[in-house]
Amino acid sequence: MKKKSLFPVINGLMHGCDYNPEQWLDRPDILEEDIKMMKKANINAVSLGIFSWSVYEPSEGEYHFEWLEKTIDNLYKNGIYTILATPSGARPAWLDEKYPEAMRTDCYGQKEHHGFRHNHCMSSPVYREKVSNIIRKLAEHTGGHPGVIMWHISNEFGGECYCPLCVKRFQDYLADKFDNDISKLNHAWWNTFWSHNYSSFCQIEPPFANGERTNLGLDLEWKRFTTWNMNDYMKSEIKLLKELTPGLPVTTNFMQFYSGLDYNVMAEELDVISWDSYPALHNDSEPFYKTMENNSFYHAVMRSMKRDRPFMMMESAPGLVNWQEYNKVKRPGVHKLFSMQAVACGSDTVQYFQWRKGRGSFEQYHGAVIDHLGKDDTRIFEEVKDLGDALKKISKTAGTVIEAKAALLYDWDNKWAIEDIKGLSNNTKNYDAVCCSFYSAFLRLGIEMDVIASDRDFANYGIIIAPMLYMLRPGVADRLESFVSKGGQLLATYLTGYVDINQLCYLGGFPGDGLNKLFGVISEEIDTLYPSDSNLAKFKDGSEGSIKDYAEILRLNGAEVLAEYGYDFYKGTPAVTAHSYGKGTAYYVGARICNDSLRRIFLEMAEKAGIEYKKIPLGIEYHKRTAGRENYEFYLNNTEDVLSVENVTGTNILNGQNIDGVLVLEKYETAVIEASK
Ligand code: GLA
Ligand code: ZN
Repeated sequence: MKKKSLFPVINGLMHGCDYNPEQWLDRPDILEEDIKMMKKANINAVSLGIFSWSVYEPSEGEYHFEWLEKTIDNLYKNGIYTILATPSGARPAWLDEKYPEAMRTDCYGQKEHHGFRHNHCMSSPVYREKVSNIIRKLAEHTGGHPGVIMWHISNEFGGECYCPLCVKRFQDYLADKFDNDISKLNHAWWNTFWSHNYSSFCQIEPPFANGERTNLGLDLEWKRFTTWNMNDYMKSEIKLLKELTPGLPVTTNFMQFYSGLDYNVMAEELDVISWDSYPALHNDSEPFYKTMENNSFYHAVMRSMKRDRPFMMMESAPGLVNWQEYNKVKRPGVHKLFSMQAVACGSDTVQYFQWRKGRGSFEQYHGAVIDHLGKDDTRIFEEVKDLGDALKKISKTAGTVIEAKAALLYDWDNKWAIEDIKGLSNNTKNYDAVCCSFYSAFLRLGIEMDVIASDRDFANYGIIIAPMLYMLRPGVADRLESFVSKGGQLLATYLTGYVDINQLCYLGGFPGDGLNKLFGVISEEIDTLYPSDSNLAKFKDGSEGSIKDYAEILRLNGAEVLAEYGYDFYKGTPAVTAHSYGKGTAYYVGARICNDSLRRIFLEMAEKAGIEYKKIPLGIEYHKRTAGRENYEFYLNNTEDVLSVENVTGTNILNGQNIDGVLVLEKYETAVIEASK
């Protein structure tokens, strides 16, 4: 792929932060210090104005942009660019007082109070109108400024509203989706069950948010609608921004672990994907390298939404956050490692929330580059500055991308459907964790993996992993069949192909929609194990793998058995199978088997697909960014041990060292190797 620079004016990688000068307008001394210290910390961009509406417009129609224009100007003169937010993340009090319909309504029909943030009704015409007014003004005052390089739309979209307007829009959305034919909806949702049948779309109420949701079709469509409505709102902002400032790219910051919106749908509208990365580092439930692997998985989720260009890590914590269960500080050296991970995974930016700690309110103890102490010689400041230096050294990696040959299928509506299954165990479904564990297994082999929606093109890939692909979107089964018959290596697991997009079970054997022919197995039963239960997969080569949580009892339909169950009444029956199909192979892993014991299968898949893998020690994370003939290999030591990797050649552009053979990495160290030409 070609080099695709996100911000041509920034020669290299972005090192930025959320900056809230509006909280300090009565302290010009501090504002002046800010710029000096930003330069010292090698900051080259800030995100401005995210929650500034009440300062821009303290009462309706009264505008104050002087301070903003002055800030953008000062920053620009000092080589710092601005990503300007639309301030729709939080509303001023006058708006809610005068137009209460802008506030959300909860599922009990109760209007929410003014305050907090992100609590607006996305359907409200008044809210949309007021947002357009302020955006127009903002664009008028700042849009042509050479320092402004991007729009940051609202902030971390999320939540849902149950007001009459939203309910009506939901009903219209459904009528449209089911061709105005209520019997189609009744059939799709299996509504004869418990007398759920409707005779008109206007009878349909959203599912109750708290408590058991009994109509699964309704629940799933409500979630899809919430994305649709949020996206519709976001598009209204984008449309206006593109009219006012056609040259500026737009993004909005996605959140890690947020499952309420299908980001794949929203990604379509954005020029660049950005997200906020706040894993609980140094937690007490897993080794540090595993937390890093999980974070790498989420980077891959975001990166893969637009695989032809870099993404942005829009927020991360310089030291600590204030909202986790335990807000531990990053250990010395981890800031650099964590930030380098983002770049290694394809981000062209390392940005922070926040530049300076505010004196009061909800986030007063949230980490920042500048503490209440106000000094630029703190540990955190030094580490940020040091990172800024490092980013400059690897500036030529900007615009390069990761070209993965393996993909993992990950659908939001599949996740929602799995969460809604009445059956199995609510404690162990763990869709995200399972997807992540497969991603990690390939990461440990040095194989880059995209994480894509199942309706994306499979043509780029030689390997596809489909963990728990419970719900099949239309056409996916056929496309998987064609992928394998042309030589693709496909691996799916227990809980594949049970239901269609309305959650109606397939008849005639899971995995349905023809997949049982592709995999050569039919799943006859699924056993849910108690936490104290386990089983064993006994592989034909003599190796074994432990089984927890789920085990399907399989009937062979043409596949070859790779492993059998070791215990219980299904001892000796197939647990893992492979089916040669056309020019490729379809593997079926019928139980939650520990991934280490599947390693041999992963290697076999890679060999058959002609995908290179690497011998790297556990705890080293490897990525390769490339464009044309440029290649940058990143090695991250996600442990406290000194680790070495063999067969590395090239120059470590972080320290200028030439490596020819063994690369030794100190605790938390990163190397960025440019291949010798
Ligand atoms: C989010 C928000 C920020 C801030 C941080 C705190 O990512 O976008 O405004 O609240 O969380 O971690
Ligand atoms: Zn509403």
